[in-house]
Amino acid sequence: MSPLSTVILGTGSYAPGRILSNAELSQTVDTSDEWIRTRSGIRERRIAAPGEATSDMGVHAARRALADAGLQPADIDLLIVATITPDMPMPATACIIQQKLGVPTNAACFDLNAACTGFLYALDTACAMLGSGRYRHALVIGVEKLSTIVDWKDRTTCVLFGDGAGAVVVGKSPVPGLGLIGTKLGALGDSVDLLCIPGGGSNAPATAASIAAGSHFLKMKGKEVFKLAVRVMDEAARDILEQHHLRADQISLVIPHQANLRIIEAISAYLELPLERFFVNVDRYGNTSAASIPLALDEARRTGRIKSGDLTLLVAFGAGLTYGSALIRW
Ligand code: COA
Repeated sequence: MSPLSTVILGTGSYAPGRILSNAELSQTVDTSDEWIRTRSGIRERRIAAPGEATSDMGVHAARRALADAGLQPADIDLLIVATITPDMPMPATACIIQQKLGVPTNAACFDLNAACTGFLYALDTACAMLGSGRYRHALVIGVEKLSTIVDWKDRTTCVLFGDGAGAVVVGKSPVPGLGLIGTKLGALGDSVDLLCIPGGGSNAPATAASIAAGSHFLKMKGKEVFKLAVRVMDEAARDILEQHHLRADQISLVIPHQANLRIIEAISAYLELPLERFFVNVDRYGNTSAASIPLALDEARRTGRIKSGDLTLLVAFGAGLTYGSALIRW
């Protein structure tokens, strides 16, 4: 095991140019700007262009993260893509991004599916692999084209999601106590049916009937997910703070999964940490699943919300029902 710290060397993000506002959405589905804003805090979301694949968005975010780190694609020997909307079921979108970006062929490349917690699972996996001493620089990308799995006729889900990408470059530093200082991951497998895409997999391969029934679209029991989300995010945050003998008020900035402003407000109340210490951009992007945290992290860094020495808490939940938290010292 390497005694070096595992640090984030650079961040980058990308959002497609097309903005879909609540007002525009309410022209095609029975909803309103007022309902969406008050129930979720979302004002608009981004939608990928026709022909713009998940891998294309991932490449944009990755290039920005590499530039921020001062590294080249040739420096990457581990590439992990967290996504539930791969370009195709196989091969991994990581291999497609490897080719588009020019990452060397001796790099390990794979996808990881932990839904909205995917980025935290991928970050922890990258850190563990870097800790083995067998890899030098990891590129971790969270990217989603959720507009392709959302049923645009289902007002209970389609108003909540959007497309986007975020990426980080992870490497080693000789400075002790810096970077990823802890993670906590978990899953509640008994809650699979709360949030899932029931059709199209090996259990229920796509047929004309399954497509007509819309079983290849995302299904969600929103109220149940809401309650569990608040519980597991609060627990994941508390557990990691306790594990590292920290109080919530020692956290400079919390970067929560951006699913719903009301969920973030509830976590803020439970942790007794003012909302100003939470980074929020759900209003502009909606829920971008695995892209949500790296997109927010990049915006937080670029807007000066994270400074040297700061302690940041990342916390997420997602289908599975997966959950996780991570502490980063900058
Ligand atoms: N526009 C207008 N009305 C809508 C609507 C929409 N987009 N979606 C649902 N409604 C209606 C419902 O049909 C319901 O009407 P009814 O009372 O006549 O049956 C009413 O609004 C209330 O719906 P409800 O589901 O109780 O609303 P809610 O307060 O629970 O909010 C969510 C719904 C989805 C915003 C909320 O449950 C939520 O955010 N859940 C968590 C989702 C999440 O984070 N998922 C991602 C996991 S990573």
